[in-house]
Amino acid sequence: MTQEEKISPPRHIAIIMDGNGRWAKNRGLPRTAGHAAGAEAFRKIANYCRELGVEYLTVYAFSTENWKRSQEEVSGIMRLLGLYLKEALRDMRKNRVRFCFFGDLTKLSPKLQKLCLQAQEESADYDVQVNFCLNYGGRQELVQAAQRFAADVQQGLVQPQELTEDMLSSYLYSKDVPDPELIIRPSGEKRTSNFLLWQSAYSEYVFMNVLWPDFSPEHLDEAIEEYHRRNRRFGGV
Ligand code: FPP
Repeated sequence: MTQEEKISPPRHIAIIMDGNGRWAKNRGLPRTAGHAAGAEAFRKIANYCRELGVEYLTVYAFSTENWKRSQEEVSGIMRLLGLYLKEALRDMRKNRVRFCFFGDLTKLSPKLQKLCLQAQEESADYDVQVNFCLNYGGRQELVQAAQRFAADVQQGLVQPQELTEDMLSSYLYSKDVPDPELIIRPSGEKRTSNFLLWQSAYSEYVFMNVLWPDFSPEHLDEAIEEYHRRNRRFGGV
């Protein structure tokens, strides 16, 4: 298919980058090698999303539950993220990607927090937005939103009965980002795993039997085609 013949992509695609560990195990490699291959797949897919004209790409890079993994694996993932952000800062003008981070970054190393902040600030004017979910959990996101709303009530800035869906959305990390139309989970697992709980209310899920490091632009085309075959009714008829 040529670029012109391809059907238009959704504005916002979200991906649970799953299957790195199994990919490595199948090859007799350490899990960290799977995450390195996963980071490579991410680079390819982020570029492809830009080519397609996707406006927002949200990826689950590290969940609030991922701290339970071995120290070696956690620091391996953090190292890859640091390397990627340094590279992104270097190539910022070429790639024109706007960085945004969803999650509680205060638990990350000061070095990584600084890189996140720098990437976010220096890319603020670019057009394709990549949202990295880092130390992110959908429930944790709702808890921090409730805490911040309660603090605003306590200060007299707002009344409890004034809370609307739109107002609650403005307390989420995804403030100002439209909900994802399409959420992709590779690796054969069929769970949402605490990802974008609020934002996914009307998202189409596409589950695919490919491990994330093997995920290619052709897989993304396939997921977009599947999304277009679905009949989205938003609760109507
Ligand atoms: C899930 O696969 C993947 C993660 C918990 C980490 C995702 C991180 C990356 C792809 C690297 C991040 C870096 C960049 C630059 C995006 P899994 O380990 O749970 O796989 P398994 O289910 O096969 O064990």
